[in-house]
Amino acid sequence: MKQVFEVLLIEDSKTINNILSKRLEELGLKVTQAFTLKEAEDKLNQKNYDFLILDLHLPDGEGIDLLGSIQTITETKIIVLTSTADDESLRQELFNRGILDYIIKDQNFLYSVEEVIKIFEHFLSRKKKDILIIDDSKFVVRQVKRILETRNYNVDGAYTGKDGLELLEKKEYELIILDIELPDLHGLEILKKIREKPYLIYLPIIVLSGSNTPGLVRKILKSGANDYIKKPFVAEEFILKVDFWIDYFEQQMQLKRKTVELQRLNEKLEQIVKVEVAKNVEQEKMLLAQSRLAAMGELIAIIAHQWRQPLNVISTIANNVKIWLELKEYDIEKIKENCEHILRQINYLDTTIEDFRNFFKPQKNIVKTDFGKIVQKAVEILEHLLYVKDIELDIEKKSIKELKTYENDLLQAVINIIKNAVDAIENKRVRKIKILIDGCKLEIADNGGGVPSKIIKKIFEPYFSTKGEKGTGLGLYLSKLIVEEKCKGKLELRNEKDGAVFTINLCKN
Ligand SMILES: Nc1ncnc2c1ncn2[C@@H]1O[C@H](COP(=O)(O)OP(=O)(O)OP(=O)(O)O)[C@@H](O)[C@H]1O
Ligand SMILES: [Mg+2]
Repeated sequence: MKQVFEVLLIEDSKTINNILSKRLEELGLKVTQAFTLKEAEDKLNQKNYDFLILDLHLPDGEGIDLLGSIQTITETKIIVLTSTADDESLRQELFNRGILDYIIKDQNFLYSVEEVIKIFEHFLSRKKKDILIIDDSKFVVRQVKRILETRNYNVDGAYTGKDGLELLEKKEYELIILDIELPDLHGLEILKKIREKPYLIYLPIIVLSGSNTPGLVRKILKSGANDYIKKPFVAEEFILKVDFWIDYFEQQMQLKRKTVELQRLNEKLEQIVKVEVAKNVEQEKMLLAQSRLAAMGELIAIIAHQWRQPLNVISTIANNVKIWLELKEYDIEKIKENCEHILRQINYLDTTIEDFRNFFKPQKNIVKTDFGKIVQKAVEILEHLLYVKDIELDIEKKSIKELKTYENDLLQAVINIIKNAVDAIENKRVRKIKILIDGCKLEIADNGGGVPSKIIKKIFEPYFSTKGEKGTGLGLYLSKLIVEEKCKGKLELRNEKDGAVFTINLCKN
């Protein structure tokens, strides 16, 4: 269980007494209040207190009269409060007797209250620190022990340099107090030996010496001491310096620990970053490979789509020729003509591969052309299909305008649109496709009844088809890609009375 410290607060000012006692209770201390010397004496007779806060001037006597008995009987730690700057010798005597502090009540008494609180905070928060004093004077060692042990320090004494160095090997200290004149070793030599050890490099050392000639002080500080105090010393100054160096050392050690922690963390982070970067590179490679594969897959799908029609034509013609030969019902001219037809389709197959291989390379394949030429080529390729399906094709040339564009790619788009029209009118009694060339505009209209409004938004999406097994749904997607992405034009659809009208508009580029 955590120890609860008991405080006797002897202060005749009710205001200060009440405020201070409230603040101390907030720190977890148990406070008993006394307002007169008599009251204080009574309380002290009843039990022991861990701390005494003592106002030196009380209405019925001097607070100092209490001290004689308390210190010898109990282990009470004392903080003195006084309203005037009392004489220096009293102050020194009190420190020598081991008071924790001597606080002058300021005009601003809230500040004084906080000073007291600070002492307690310091006292309560800190674990016992170990201090080594190396001094051959038993009197000095005892005096230092008394002053520091009441302040929650643990003090070990060594009377020779050799003993001191031995203790340093065995135990970790937070501070060394070193006398310069020792019987066996000179203090400067001890300093040197301490600083030679890497683990003692930062340990603070305060040197005590009877002499303060400037040369010696300089030597002491240059040999690795952190501070210097002349004997006989003023207890209050001594305490201030000890507190200062102990705090300093603690901060240094904390800083070192934090630096090491940070370094470790940094190394760890570096490692993590390295691993993650490596992972990312791996992932990027995979993604790239995947997207290449996907692109290749798409390219193959597109080429296959555009090949279907000519392959069908070739296979139909080849079959026809075979039958004629079997039936011996052929004339050379007809076969020649069909061979020409096959060669044209093969030529188209060949250019299709080339064109799509270059599809994503800008500028390649740009040529001077016009919609007249493009439509003519499309009709040559579809001639057989139109003939077989018995479709009437009506081409109207309103005006012809030269275009600098991707002719072969546009040809693919036009073929797709005409093919869709063929599919749409296949089962109609009258089958009619009308093509209108108007400069940089091309219209392809059929009498298939149009695109149902509920799918109109979807027809340009990849793989959208209403044709089941027969369709891949790539035709219009590819056509839109060619017209709008590649040729920077517009491909639009509207439904008219008879059927769908697709328009390719290249006028804006
Ligand atoms: N002229 C048209 N009249 C009516 N519907 C059409 C017309 N053109 C396209 N469509 C509709 O748009 C859909 C998508 O056309 P798209 O050319 O992209 O694919 P598909 O023709 O179905 O398949 P594939 O192009 O592989 O033959 C068609 O399935 C059809 O429903
Ligand atoms: Mg299609």
